[in-house]
Amino acid sequence: MVPDTLPFEAPGGALGPTGRPMPVIPEPESLTSHGPARVIAMCNQKGGVGKTTTTINLGAALAEYGRRVLLVDFDPQGSLSVGLGLNPHDMDLTVYNLLMDSDVKVGDVVVPSGVEGMDLLPSNIELSAAEVQLVHEVGREQTLARVLAPALGEYDVVLIDCQPSLGLLTVNALTASDGVIVPLECEYFALRGVALLKSTIDKVQQRLNPKLHIDGLLGTMYDGRTLHSREVMERLVQAWGKTVFHTVIRRTVKFSDSTVAGEPITTYASTSPGADSYRQLAREVLARWRAV
Ligand SMILES: Nc1ncnc2c1ncn2[C@@H]1O[C@H](COP(=O)(O)OP(=O)(O)OP(=O)(O)O)[C@@H](O)[C@H]1O
Ligand SMILES: [Mg+2]
Repeated sequence: MVPDTLPFEAPGGALGPTGRPMPVIPEPESLTSHGPARVIAMCNQKGGVGKTTTTINLGAALAEYGRRVLLVDFDPQGSLSVGLGLNPHDMDLTVYNLLMDSDVKVGDVVVPSGVEGMDLLPSNIELSAAEVQLVHEVGREQTLARVLAPALGEYDVVLIDCQPSLGLLTVNALTASDGVIVPLECEYFALRGVALLKSTIDKVQQRLNPKLHIDGLLGTMYDGRTLHSREVMERLVQAWGKTVFHTVIRRTVKFSDSTVAGEPITTYASTSPGADSYRQLAREVLARWRAV
């Protein structure tokens, strides 16, 4: 869980979108060597809350800060791969092959993401077959953890983009992870389902992966002009306290535009507020990791 005192929790100052004083988040230290990676699952069983957008853009922002990043497309919809400009019908090897064929290694599947310092393990609809086929495997929940392990030394961060369900693929992602980031759309009903997600995370933590914890809850698609966006953030902070990131991602069409362009917002609209929000999230995430 998030420590009681964050290193950047400066008192006073203007209130941020979460209703708490907005701290000054420090610049990340530069790295002289890489690995072993911290593995993060981007997880919420609710669809369309910004999991894929956050995976791409947090990854790209971490890469800008000199981190070596591996993105794992763990959703048969393949949105992460498409969002980085890949054609789903034109993939040689995918995460499906990595999971199902012991001769296939991360290095055989990995492709460049178009962003310096960030690689991608792509997926397409084939991955949906893995969910069914893995049921018959021994150690089925640990399959992703097992295949990723040999590659962790090469990266600083691995971000796994989960599908909107709590099925076997998501349990695999949670079993392979150190932390979970939960994006939540700033809408009424956003909190619905978080308790179910928490109970799944707790079960995986107790039965399969003792190191797993929640890194943070992230408000997305925030519109500061509407009372209800502000109320949702307030309720989120009431219920979850410091687990909620100070950084909030505003609603802007630039995100869908950058998906169409097949690149992160940090390069597509480098100076936009959306790009800056994800850079701030990257700094906040790195500061939290340093504090635990
Ligand atoms: N901050 C934002 N402002 C406006 N639109 C956004 C924002 N974040 C994401 N979107 C858009 O909302 C849609 C859903 O986002 P995204 O695909 O990231 O969600 P998801 O949780 O991965 O969805 P799924 O559960 O289907 O995988 C996309 O069209 C995306 O471009
Ligand atoms: Mg998605």
